Amino acid sequence: ATAQIGVTGLAVMGRNLARNLARNGFTVAVHNRSPERTRSLVAEHGGEGRFVPAESMADFVAALERPRAVIMMVKAGGPTDAVIDELVPLLDAGDIIVDCGNAHFADTRRREEALRGHGLHFVGTGVSGGEEGALRGPSIMPGGSAESYRKLGPIFERIAAQVDGVPCCRHIGPDGAGHFVKMVHNGIEYADMQLIAEAYDLLRAGLGAEPAELAEIFRDWNSGELESFLIEITADVLGHTDAATGRAFVDVVLDRAEQKGTGRWTVQSALDLGIPITGIAEATFARSLSGHADQRAAARRAFPGAGGTWQVGDRDAAVEDVRRALLASKIVAYAQGFDQIRAGSREYDWNIDLGGTATIWRGGCIIRARFLDRIRQAYDEQPELPTLLVAPWFADTVNDGVPSWRRVVAEAARAGVPAPAFASSLAYFDALRAERLPAALIQGLRDNFGAHTYHRVDREGTYHTLWAGDRSEVEA
Ligand code: 6PG
Repeated sequence: ATAQIGVTGLAVMGRNLARNLARNGFTVAVHNRSPERTRSLVAEHGGEGRFVPAESMADFVAALERPRAVIMMVKAGGPTDAVIDELVPLLDAGDIIVDCGNAHFADTRRREEALRGHGLHFVGTGVSGGEEGALRGPSIMPGGSAESYRKLGPIFERIAAQVDGVPCCRHIGPDGAGHFVKMVHNGIEYADMQLIAEAYDLLRAGLGAEPAELAEIFRDWNSGELESFLIEITADVLGHTDAATGRAFVDVVLDRAEQKGTGRWTVQSALDLGIPITGIAEATFARSLSGHADQRAAARRAFPGAGGTWQVGDRDAAVEDVRRALLASKIVAYAQGFDQIRAGSREYDWNIDLGGTATIWRGGCIIRARFLDRIRQAYDEQPELPTLLVAPWFADTVNDGVPSWRRVVAEAARAGVPAPAFASSLAYFDALRAERLPAALIQGLRDNFGAHTYHRVDREGTYHTLWAGDRSEVEA
């Protein structure tokens, strides 16, 4: 037994994680169901560090120092269960299985409980950053037992991205906490991308600008508060020309956004937890809508010319309005995502540190952004912050952006350019700050048709009005 850690599942993410571990001085046992991948990894990258290739699962496990730590990087669902079933009989009490795939946190909770029964640690771990991140330093979100983190922490913190000398990895909390946080990360990723896409669409409609020009605008935004990986690659994608046609790349890509499911899981979980993550939900639904080609074609035929035009007077002012609206909407999306993490943490007793979560998203991951530092600061200063929106910097930024935000949403509606995430983020903001909500009327209706009762503003108790009788009020 010579390897400190093992990786099974050597598709591109697993392969890059294994290389990252080896490059950082760890001896890595590597295994894949079909051994060609193991061989090619060692043949192509064997010089990067110490790999111990194994062709059978038994040899792979035998190559590991104890307590053994096995990273599995396979497809979520059935394939993950199959690999676990194969591993369990080969392992001993105290050994650790790390699932670095995008598993659903409920599956992770189930697996963790089952493996605990065998004396094994099961560590559902979120890994973000795509292929490059896995190789050069991802953001790592491990769940599982504190005991397992004593072995894994030093390894993961070493291979993770580093920001200001701080690793983008920390123990998130027990059982499914790591996968839950990764799921919400992906939900925020959906919202962030939808907002960027709406900003692009609005600017294109309003300014009549070509993608290459718009790339410049995003490049410029990337040097301010919006600085982030996603804004940076937006400039890159918009500036790219399709070699085959000479047209802007974005114009030759079919406009149907796909998804592997983590955004959907985030929304499903938020519904269960009762947390309004409207930005993430709009983003997820916007992707589904884009895929309904038949309905879109039918509606295009039925409503030609239903849109208006957006006449931009001052171009710079319009760009600045969209930038501010984007920033404010983005703050809403993050505020909602962190609300969901807090709610999940309470529901499942995970004790997740919100500031700590923001800290490890500052580098390596897809949503890495300058303003995550501010989120960390906000939660560090006030762990019980009711919503990120009211933390000083965020409140000031949103306040400054409100007139732009309203103009952009109004112009989008007038011009007939769909901006569901911008519009619903603004509506969320207005609902949250409203003195009175029409929820009072909903309570009245519920009481009227179903005797569902209501509370009063002026005294304690639960009441019902005898709507079909003499309309007197009774205490329920
Ligand atoms: C990451 C990403 C990654 C995710 C892709 C694709 O953090 O590195 O979130 O985990 O799988 O972004 O997700 P969709 O196919 O659902 O867009």
